[in-house]
Amino acid sequence: MSLLRVSNLRTFFHTRNGVVRAVNGVSFAIEKGETLGIVGESGSGKSVTGYSLLGLIPQPPGRIESGQALFNGVDLLSCPRNTLQKIRGKRISMIFQDPMTSLNPYLRIGDQLIEPLRIHDRMDRSVAMAMAVEMLKQVGIQDAATRIQCYPHEFSGGMRQRVMIAMALITRPDLVIADEPTTALDVTVQAQILELIKKMQNDLGMAVILISHDLGVVSGVCDRVLVMYAGQIMESGTTDDLFYRPLHPYNQALQKSRPALQSKGAELYTIPGLPPDLSKTIGGCPFAPRCEHANDGCGRSEPGLEEIEPRHHTSCARIQKGDLRLTFSAANEQGESFAVCGRCPGRSLASQCAQNRPRPAAVPCP
Ligand SMILES: Nc1ncnc2c1ncn2[C@@H]1O[C@H](COP(=O)(O)OP(=O)(O)OP(=O)(O)O)[C@@H](O)[C@H]1O
Ligand code: SF4
Ligand SMILES: [Mg+2]
Repeated sequence: MSLLRVSNLRTFFHTRNGVVRAVNGVSFAIEKGETLGIVGESGSGKSVTGYSLLGLIPQPPGRIESGQALFNGVDLLSCPRNTLQKIRGKRISMIFQDPMTSLNPYLRIGDQLIEPLRIHDRMDRSVAMAMAVEMLKQVGIQDAATRIQCYPHEFSGGMRQRVMIAMALITRPDLVIADEPTTALDVTVQAQILELIKKMQNDLGMAVILISHDLGVVSGVCDRVLVMYAGQIMESGTTDDLFYRPLHPYNQALQKSRPALQSKGAELYTIPGLPPDLSKTIGGCPFAPRCEHANDGCGRSEPGLEEIEPRHHTSCARIQKGDLRLTFSAANEQGESFAVCGRCPGRSLASQCAQNRPRPAAVPCP
């Protein structure tokens, strides 16, 4: 049985300007110990998906319109509030996208760190403090025993982000939802934090949902990936399939726009047009107005995800019907398909990593 199975999640915001369909029919599962990446352009519904699972959608204007999210047999979307509170922060924790607004400015870092241990495990204050100091050290805070007495405003943005990560990991949860956990950090700290999350995963069998704009980080650490657009999943599959054999035109365009895959000196590829206004009804494929392969049929019906290859699903109706088959080639100087390996300098062909590594490593690419 999957650790978490989400079915047909729909979260809408009922605003003065109309109903914003932020998450519209999302289904996925994550297994114990697995790392699932969620990628997509800004506004595609990645954070709202994470917040919905933990009951963190502001209501109103938000509302969970439908869906089920089974976590060890408990439906997170319909269980009583106190059941969700027991799970949240203990068995499932979240690293928020914005550490500045997620820490309480009036409480010392230490008091915030030990809160989940005191509430969920009823741990003695001094034991909890010792654990908190250890956790701060692990996320790379120097002089942790002293710094634990500081207030958030005495920390830099990157340090606050590391505190958020320590708070999420301190209860050794079964699942961590990490929303852009390393975006505010420099590359070396980013690599340390990703290594730490990976180590805790190996030690505890923890699963991670990693929401990120950084396709390099996702390709390095995730087992499987969901590509979201306009509140829906466009493509899902193993990381290798999604990055090296993308099927859906949107995922292909996303991969092509990775700066690391552009030829030196060439103009950066950008996806033409803008994502749709989610308060307007979208008939048919949401990517149609921007898709270079769209035909008349694409605007008529809304395709759902369909398995095209083993464990590789796409929502492109033309690919499902078999009348469109795209090969992926990011245009390098030789016109060859290539990938970026985190450990090898520069770019290397996917099949010929310079150091013969089986797949990109958990270190962001230069
Ligand atoms: N409180 C709210 N009221 C109205 N609309 C909202 C609210 N919160 C989110 N939305 C809308 O929901 C949609 C999805 O937002 P979400 O934050 O999930 O995007 P995202 O994929 O996480 O983007 P980013 O990469 O920028 O973080 C957006 O169109 C956003 O404007
Ligand atoms: S269904 Fe049509 S518009 Fe949508 S991605 Fe496929 S080809 Fe493009
Ligand atoms: Mg977000």
